[in-house]
Amino acid sequence: MIKTEVLTIDPEQVSEQELKLAGDYIRQGKLVAFPTETVYGLGANALDGSACDRIFDAKGRPHDNPLIVHVLDPKDCDRYADTEYSPLFPVLAERFMPGPLTVILPKKEIIPDAVTVGLKTVALRCPCHPVARALISSAGVPIAAPSANRSGKPSPTTAKHVIDDMLGRIDMIIDGGDADVGLESTVISLEKDKIKLLRPGFVTLDDLLNITPNVEVSPSVLEALSTDEKPESPGMKYKHYAPNAPVTMVSGADNDVIAYFIQKEKEGCGILCFEEDLPFFDQELKNVISLGARDDVKSQANRLFSALRFFDKTNVSHIYARETTCDSIGLAVTNRLLRACGFQKIKL
Ligand code: TXA
Ligand code: MG
Repeated sequence: MIKTEVLTIDPEQVSEQELKLAGDYIRQGKLVAFPTETVYGLGANALDGSACDRIFDAKGRPHDNPLIVHVLDPKDCDRYADTEYSPLFPVLAERFMPGPLTVILPKKEIIPDAVTVGLKTVALRCPCHPVARALISSAGVPIAAPSANRSGKPSPTTAKHVIDDMLGRIDMIIDGGDADVGLESTVISLEKDKIKLLRPGFVTLDDLLNITPNVEVSPSVLEALSTDEKPESPGMKYKHYAPNAPVTMVSGADNDVIAYFIQKEKEGCGILCFEEDLPFFDQELKNVISLGARDDVKSQANRLFSALRFFDKTNVSHIYARETTCDSIGLAVTNRLLRACGFQKIKL
């Protein structure tokens, strides 16, 4: 156990001065969890291989799953990756950086193997959250950061989630309020004239198609990889976002799904439903959680991980979830929910 300091920062009026100690910690090789617009990250100096090794230990992360490097400005990416590799990079950078997009490019020597787990590529992201930006600026170095959860658990969208997972394991947690988006960044890899979508997020498939029609969606976005397949993004092969109770996605006619949910709730199961479903339960039931309206994909993205974590504080034996849309940000919601389910689905 190490002592974990918790520092509370108002994201509306953050100053670099307030983050001086946190920045010092990063430069000294310590681990600092911080808010971003997507989820909380667990940061270390991306140029310090042994600091990055500590991230894997603190999370219990498999040693073949690479980290994202966070920089202040898209122009800084040149130092760490070959940004001229694809003419699409400047266009994407101009449109989506800073913001919830991560781009994979050929790496430069300066990035240690501990970050990329020996791959020839590096993932780069330029967050727009004011606290993340002030931390990178105060540290004066790029920050390698995966999501700040124990490996396999849903990503943290509040400082409380990080405290639950990481207290005693890292040096500092910066509490800068709840994450806006609630799901991790969109991850893409670039070829000369093509974008490959590896992990959907708030930057949507349509957003990417507006840049080029040449976008390929990795099959691993909506399908389980077979055990011998080598994933393009190593993170895709691991069990993810899993609460303690198993999760199953349920599809079918509304009436059937609701009747099924009512029955399962009585049997002691947790229910993840839409706002429109709530009136069908005859009272407010504490293990029935709405992700938001059926079409409100932003709300669903924002609430999914909190809801999955909520069930860990209950004794539900199983969680049943509504099937979500794949439109727009719904593709990211569905991608995370399917992984939380271990791809378990039933059709009524
Ligand atoms: O929103 C986010 O992206 C958050 C915040 C903290 O920035 N970070 C995050 O990191 O979600 P993490 O480590 O939980 O997910 C990073 C994903 C993993 O699936 C990893 O395999 C993939 O990005 N990745 C990283 N570097 C890669 C590379 N060089 N090639 C392929 N995939 C890579
Ligand atoms: Mg993660």
